[in-house]
Order: sequence, then structure tokens, then C-alpha cells
Amino acid sequence: MDGQYGDSTRSVKAVASEHVPGSPVAPQPVSAATFHLSADEAAGLDTYGRSGNPTWRQLESALAELEGATAALTFASGMAAITAALRVLAKPGTKLVVPADGYYQVRRYASEYLAPQGVTVVEASAEQMCEASADADVVLAESPANPGLDVVDLYRLAMQCRRRGAILVVDNTTATPLGQQPLSLGADVVVASATKALSGHSDLVAGYVASSRADLMSALERERLLAGAVLGGFEAWLVLRSLGTAGLRFERQCQNAAALAVMLHTHPAVRAVRYPGLPGDPAHGVACAQMKRFGGLVAVELADAAAVEALVRRSALLVASTSFGGIHTSVDRRARWGDAVSEGFARISLGIEDTDDLVADVEQALA
Ligand SMILES: Cc1ncc(COP(=O)(O)O)c(C=O)c1O
Repeated sequence: MDGQYGDSTRSVKAVASEHVPGSPVAPQPVSAATFHLSADEAAGLDTYGRSGNPTWRQLESALAELEGATAALTFASGMAAITAALRVLAKPGTKLVVPADGYYQVRRYASEYLAPQGVTVVEASAEQMCEASADADVVLAESPANPGLDVVDLYRLAMQCRRRGAILVVDNTTATPLGQQPLSLGADVVVASATKALSGHSDLVAGYVASSRADLMSALERERLLAGAVLGGFEAWLVLRSLGTAGLRFERQCQNAAALAVMLHTHPAVRAVRYPGLPGDPAHGVACAQMKRFGGLVAVELADAAAVEALVRRSALLVASTSFGGIHTSVDRRARWGDAVSEGFARISLGIEDTDDLVADVEQALA
């Protein structure tokens, strides 16, 4: 990607259409199950909605540019993208490392579907990732890890994987390609949910895989065609439309997260805060080395579940909802979903509200 450009320029350029006089400047949605066939069977044109769609391709080329990959493939959800990558890479007999402190459904998939098929599944926290991956064949790392926001040293892990020919897959959902580019740190594959900050409006579910490894991408495209977890044309268009403002939104979300983390850090009602951008955070050093922005999520620990519930009730701006990356600031008490965290642990996803309004609102709601 044009390395000299800032995030908003990159976002806008990524979704720019060709300068053809008379054609729409904005991308147009193509929602089609079937296409007119050519008599020339080798023409390589679109034929059927599960194998190809012009809106996917436009979105995929934007995502590839943002991730610094040669190609990207969209999927019906982040989980569809991650599980497709794992099915292609983790064959019976291989050792797969997955995050112990990352998105819980990925662990479930690995233990419920891959382990019974002969994949040796090992769970490791962000902190243990390098050590646990020393003899792995495939490593899936998530950084910052959802929900605890610990950070994996991606360059170190990538070099370790390279030395022994292991494949490193990085879930870039929480950081987004505007926050970090794992491929430039040596990862082989990026997987992500586009449901979160990239689309950013909490109104669709989507995912993608990006890589510069042509062999892996063609295996993944084949997998997508056969397994069929494809993104609808309209959703693809919505992600594309949203990408143009991703730089602006993400900049504000990160600014809000940093300001909130600073306030929470000294608030007497708060037991602990994690935010990779906080100078005292244990992950700050590694985060500074590999992240361009520290993301829009803050992890906070209050006294108990009632304290989290009271925070939302007394606030005029916070929304109680799961997921993250949307324009509204939202709070998710993660013990509800079974994450190994205390009852008072909440992941706060910062929206694009004015920073002063948000910090003042949360401060009064905690008082
Ligand atoms: C880090 C991470 N990866 C992947 C996913 C799955 O994404 P999706 O819900 O789009 O399937 C999530 C969902 O919350 C996530 O937090």
C-alpha cells in the first residue's frame, strides 16, 4: 500500500473506483446468484454467486491493500474466515496452537472439531505463545487478545515460526489493519472479523483472510467454494462503503480509548485497567514496537457484576451489548459468556462520541 499515506487517505483510496467518465464514483452493490454465461468457457467471467462476485473482489482488493497483502478473501463471518483457514492449514497429525485468552469460540472450534480429527490442539495465552509454539506446525495468535488485551510479540513469534517452517496466522480483529499489519511483522496469514471496527456500524457480520502466499490463498478460495461460507453481495457492499470512513472512525475510537483508560486508571472504583496504549500497561513496550494505534478497546475490572450493571444504568452514553468496534460505546461483561475473568470484568468498546462527553459520562456513572 502507499506507505506515505495516513489512515484516512488509505481508507478512502482503498475503496476508490476507477476514474471512468460517466461511471459512479461510489462502489455499487452487485447482489447476484447467477450471471449470463459466455460461450467461451475459459473466459474467466463470473458464473455463480458462490464462486465469485464483483463486489467481493472490490472489497477484497481494498482489504488486501490495507493489510499489505497481495490478496484477500471475504467470508460470511470472522468465524467462517478463521475456521476456513484452520481447515486448510491444520491437518490430522499437525500441532496447532490457539489463544487461551483470545476469542472463546475459536478455542471451542479447535477442541470440538479439529481435535477429534487428529489435530493436536494446544491452548496458550498471549504471554506463553512463543514458548508453546516452539514445536508447533500452525500457530494462531490474537493480538491484542480479546477480551484481556494482552499483546503477543508478533515479530518474535513470526521469526520463531519461520525458522522451523511453521505457519503463523494472526487474528487482526481487535487491532484492525489501521492499528497493525501482522504480515509486515512476518506473519503468513491474517484472519479477521470485519463485523467490528472496519465496518463499524454494528449492522452486519463479515470476515476475511489476507495473505501474500498464493498457494494458501488458492487453497482457501477452493475451500470457500466447496464449504460455501460466502458473504452476501449486499453485506460486501456495506463493508466496502464503511471502509472509506474506517480511518476517521478508528482514529476517534483510539483517542477515546486512550482518554478513558487514563481516567479509569486513577479512578477509585476501578480495580484494574488494561489498555496497550497506557504507559504503565505490561504490554506497552511490545505494543509500541508493533502497533501504529492501540485500538478502541479498554478492559476494566470493577468490584462485581452489579458494579458493571450500575455503570451502564447510570450512564447516558453507554450501551450494554456484546461485540465491539461500532460507533456507540458499549460495555460487555465477559464472565457472562464464560471467559476466564472476574465477575466485575468488562470490555469497553469505544465509539466515536466526543471524547470529553464520554469521559465525563463514564466518570459520573462510576461515582
Ligand atoms: C478477536 C475475534 N476474532 C474473531 C471473531 C469472530 O468474528 P465474527 O463474529 O464476525 O464471526 C470475534 C468476534 O467477536 C473476535 O472478537
